[in-house]
Amino acid sequence: MQRLSQDKINEIRQSVDIVDILGQYLSLTKKGRNYVAICPFHEDNNPSLSISPERQIYKCFVCGNGGNVFTFLQNYLKISYIEAVKKIAEMGRIDLSDYQLDEKKAPIKKEYVALYSMNEEACKIYNYYLNTKLGLEAKNYLKKRHFSDEVIEKFSIGYAPIDSILYKSFEKKYTEIDMVKSGLVIESKHHFDRFNDRIMFPLHNSEGKIVGFSGRIYKTTQTDSKYMNSPESQIFIKGETLYNYHRCREAVRKEGFVYLLEGFMDVIAMDKAGIENAVALMGTALTRDHIRMLKRLTSTIHICLDGDRAGQVAASKAADILLEANFNVKIILLPDNHDPDEIYEEHGKEGLMTLLKKTLSPIEFLMEFKYKEIDAGNYDDRKHFLEQMCELISRIKDELDKDYYIQRLSKLSGFSATIIEQKLSGIKPKEIPVYHEVRRVKEMVDKYRGAEKELLFYMLNSKEVALKYEAKVGFMYDDNYRVIASYIVDYYRTHDKLVIADFINRLPKEELIQTVIDISELQLPLPYDEKAIQHYMKNISLNARKMKKEQLLEQFHYVLDPYKQSEILKEIIELEKE
Ligand code: GTP
Ligand code: MN
Repeated sequence: MQRLSQDKINEIRQSVDIVDILGQYLSLTKKGRNYVAICPFHEDNNPSLSISPERQIYKCFVCGNGGNVFTFLQNYLKISYIEAVKKIAEMGRIDLSDYQLDEKKAPIKKEYVALYSMNEEACKIYNYYLNTKLGLEAKNYLKKRHFSDEVIEKFSIGYAPIDSILYKSFEKKYTEIDMVKSGLVIESKHHFDRFNDRIMFPLHNSEGKIVGFSGRIYKTTQTDSKYMNSPESQIFIKGETLYNYHRCREAVRKEGFVYLLEGFMDVIAMDKAGIENAVALMGTALTRDHIRMLKRLTSTIHICLDGDRAGQVAASKAADILLEANFNVKIILLPDNHDPDEIYEEHGKEGLMTLLKKTLSPIEFLMEFKYKEIDAGNYDDRKHFLEQMCELISRIKDELDKDYYIQRLSKLSGFSATIIEQKLSGIKPKEIPVYHEVRRVKEMVDKYRGAEKELLFYMLNSKEVALKYEAKVGFMYDDNYRVIASYIVDYYRTHDKLVIADFINRLPKEELIQTVIDISELQLPLPYDEKAIQHYMKNISLNARKMKKEQLLEQFHYVLDPYKQSEILKEIIELEKE
């Protein structure tokens, strides 16, 4: 067994293209030589993540996250470095079977391992029981609702029989605490399964791991609540769960938008009709976490909620939130209080498709919706309605759109278009409450740190400069810069040119990677000017130690812990030695 060398790691990195890898998780748009995407690492509204195919690195200019394909997977999937390397090797078809991959950090938190594996096993057990005698009636129910074997398999639908089959199977393998934590087992006088005699739908997290279930009754004799869900747990959080999220990326990319539905049965109905770009809420309102998840998927959402009043209220709330988060939003109201599943059953694929194409813009929707709420015979009601709508219309920028809505409002409210226009001209356009872009507090780059940063830039770009630094300076005031400088010097011992995307693999801390990417993006003239380099070096070597010493002395007076004090003293002595 060989150990994974830096060279091998570089080979793995080079076996893939960063654009393909990030493209699997984000929706990318080409912009000049680079690609841009909505950054998944902060609440992003405009695409602020930039990907350079040339340099094989990415960088968010708002939150600062950046790195190569490994860094991305680590941050995005919350996995360890070695896990990320393994994943990329798989994608690049590089065989690692001869290599020893020692795991420093577990890929998933250890305490969650049991929870994930219980859910995974439960799913298999439920799948099995659906095809036994015990599951016959449940299977018939599914057949009646036109669930084909393919659909049952795709959505891993199963059946939980009456006996506590999970508990019996888990008993020997898991602790009772874990079993109860998973929500699959309930503890009262004894332990028993939560789900009894229900059709089981596994629920996945955004990475596709099963985190819980929803169980449906299927017999008229069953009087319990229609659906029962796993309770929220460390791994199952409803506000972070969207049914089908992990499966829909390809289809969303193809179609350019995602349908947001009310029930997961509707997602399955859409799938039966060949529509795969749909997700559903798990019986909760739209949360900020959902929004972050959706942002990673697409910027266009078609909300399709039941046409009843509750559905419309939900749609208007969801539309508000999504608009505020800068999504393009369309709304579909299905007739006769029908959900997509019922439409599909009654009108088939074509009928459903036709209705889904009838999208309303949020303003159209709100106009129709609010209009239905008022008493059209009442003058005050109509006047109030007009005022509310003018407020909305005043936000529209496109002149043609504006005119369209003015005409529409005039027709609904009975007021003339002229008076509406007059009213509109009196409304000062309110700022749309867009989330303020979280601009990173600009670093206070003082003279010295600036010089250090720029010298690092030249060291990244030239072995000669790095060697000069080593020979003449060898020290930087900024702790991170100093460490980076030493890694650069080290890198050039075996290389003549520094490849950023490879170099960062050696850095021991995420923070250092971000810093290096940052520095590498500086727009400084190349090739370097010898005089400028001399100037940086003189500046740094004259002042760096002095400043560092002053900083340490100051710390020394603040720190009370004698152990830390002695550490600081040691550092000061080290500084004076050289
Ligand atoms: P079917 O009746 O099987 O077609 O399902 P549906 O999708 O039409 O269900 P409905 O519109 O009644 O509910 C939409 C969503 O609300 C479901 O997917 C569930 O997430 C949630 N929900 C509905 N009923 C219940 C219930 O009794 N208990 C819980 N916990 N959630 C429910
Ligand atoms: Mn339904």
